[in-house]
Amino acid sequence: MGVAILTTGKALPALKVENQKLTELVETDSQWIIERTGIESRHIATSETGLSLAVAAAEEALGDMDKASIGLVLVATVSPDMLVPSMGALVKRTMGLENAVAYDINAACSGFIYGLWNAEALMKTHDIKRALVIGVERLSRITNWEDRGTCILFGDGAGCAVLELSDDKPGILSSFIKNYDDVSNSLTVDMQYLQTPFADDGPKEPYIHMNGTQVFRFAVGAIGEAMDAVLRNAGVRADEVKYYVPHQANMRIIQSAAQRMKQPLEKFQVNIQTTGNVSAASIPMALADLMKSGKIQSGDKVMLVGFGGGLTAGAILFEAV
Ligand SMILES: CC(C)(COP(=O)(O)OP(=O)(O)OC[C@H]1O[C@@H](n2cnc3c(N)ncnc32)[C@H](O)[C@@H]1OP(=O)(O)O)[C@@H](O)C(=O)NCCC(=O)NCCS
Repeated sequence: MGVAILTTGKALPALKVENQKLTELVETDSQWIIERTGIESRHIATSETGLSLAVAAAEEALGDMDKASIGLVLVATVSPDMLVPSMGALVKRTMGLENAVAYDINAACSGFIYGLWNAEALMKTHDIKRALVIGVERLSRITNWEDRGTCILFGDGAGCAVLELSDDKPGILSSFIKNYDDVSNSLTVDMQYLQTPFADDGPKEPYIHMNGTQVFRFAVGAIGEAMDAVLRNAGVRADEVKYYVPHQANMRIIQSAAQRMKQPLEKFQVNIQTTGNVSAASIPMALADLMKSGKIQSGDKVMLVGFGGGLTAGAILFEAV
């Protein structure tokens, strides 16, 4: 019995913000951003909510499939519209997914990989026919727009995959997730809560704090470990993988992944130029682009690989339907 990735969808906010626009907010220049990250523009939500983006991506992925067949909705996000209800519960209600259990997962930028890992296990053990795994972010709401070290990197958007439990399709061949203790707090987002009459928690900064160099070093090592692990577990060689879909955080990290695998960069799906880093939504959006491109045939092997705050990392190797 396998869990196949059937279809995908994605949604981006209408507003496209070019690097040039950011030079009005912080001391930076477009060429520096392109050379150090590969990012040229990103989409930023104005009227869109996380929910509207998640639903748009899910509707595209679902097409005319029967909504009653969806038994599970997992939403990976670090920027939910609300804490309660969860984004999963909101998606379920908005889309009328009457038979689904729904909740959120926070594994930062590895969230979509963690979502697939959870969904595969739950579908097999609980006989769930179909599941939606969504990655959605409005990182613009947790970005410090005065910090040039971070505000140039992030964007908003959503991506979704429909999974199906199958007797004859192998689907996911191998999966790997791992947590690494972030002992130096290299990537954090604090929470802003109301002050209670009973404790003095001090001021909080509810936006992304990052030591870019530390995260960069972690990323290069962790994605190498994750990619090696899924190949080894499945008994598949790197050259047998038709396409790699990496987390879109920095073009130089993607290049180092290609070098590590001794594979041409052309086998790596890249959309960071026009999206920036959209955390949990990065991989499903890039996967949706790859699926739409027509470059994937039934039976092709595809690897998803990501890393993120926590610290977290993971990879999924699957066979396309
Ligand atoms: C953030 C990142 C692009 C910075 O690139 P870098 O090459 O490491 O750059 P550094 O942080 O060493 O900074 C180099 C110089 O550029 C400057 N700089 C930083 N941001 C800048 C910006 N937006 N524009 C211009 N200059 C900038 C720094 O102040 C520093 O100047 P200094 O040498 O005078 O002190 C890079 O570290 C990175 O992508 N890290 C991984 C981040 C990541 O993946 N995060 C998501 C995790 S899911």
